[in-house]
Amino acid sequence: MDPVADVVLGFADYHAPAQRLAAALGAAYAEVEVHRFPDGESRVRLPTPVPPRVLFCRSLDRPNDKLVELLLAAATARELGAAELALVAPYLCYMRQDTAFQPGEAVSQRIIGRELARCFDTVATVDPHLHRTPVLADAVPVPRALALSAAEPLAALLAARDDAPLLLGPDEESAQWVGAIARRAGLEHAVAAKTRSGDRAVAIELPTLAVTGRAVVLVDDVASTGRTLAEACRALHAAGAARVDVAVTHALFAGDALAVLAEAGVGEVLSTDSILHGSNAVELAPLFAAALVEA
Ligand code: R5P
Repeated sequence: MDPVADVVLGFADYHAPAQRLAAALGAAYAEVEVHRFPDGESRVRLPTPVPPRVLFCRSLDRPNDKLVELLLAAATARELGAAELALVAPYLCYMRQDTAFQPGEAVSQRIIGRELARCFDTVATVDPHLHRTPVLADAVPVPRALALSAAEPLAALLAARDDAPLLLGPDEESAQWVGAIARRAGLEHAVAAKTRSGDRAVAIELPTLAVTGRAVVLVDDVASTGRTLAEACRALHAAGAARVDVAVTHALFAGDALAVLAEAGVGEVLSTDSILHGSNAVELAPLFAAALVEA
């Protein structure tokens, strides 16, 4: 099989999934060397020579330094002769700011998307937060914009449980993910309503349904501060749920998020390896490899 890239270039902060992707593609793996100077600037060094088809693999959680380093690496790969550049960014940053919620705000999704499109021919990610933007290519206008879904592997995990949990999306935006997983797993699902009044201030209103004595799994694309899931969990316990677990694609879990979830009574937390975390239960390399080979 002709691999879709001559080399997969990873970074030290995401090397194991990048190596798995290279193995799944039958491509060589090498690493971009990054040195942080004392003043915070980064020096980026690519392994040379640079072959014609290069695939960078780096997840863009906590993105500001990573983005700059990625843009430096991609531009350098072009200067050193790469003709085809692909990016696999399992977590694609800045997708949630898809509009100016207040006058004067940057529409980060569009701006970062355009920057990535200047550098890459292919951008692949999983469950990008596309709420008001119908398709990834609208946000990241590259010739091949691949938005994969983790619904299949997450559904397989949940379908294997013996307590047929109710799947609950904590807000309207999660409807697409919880619906896709529930259909595949053959499980019942519902969606709650959320009002956010600050980064760490959310209120959740449960839909009208009976949860007394039931196992519930909260399903969302991303958990950041954990407040969305924690408030939903509290509401479910107050309504009599027997246990509440969590399944998310992207385990950002910023700051005290995990402690907040535990305090709210969340049981098990499952996630994909889009972000390396102790809750990872799904490896995404086979999904990305299959999509890249097909594209
Ligand atoms: C937003 O709609 C997302 O789907 C998540 O619900 C949100 O980002 C979670 O944020 P947090 O964990 O900070 O409540």
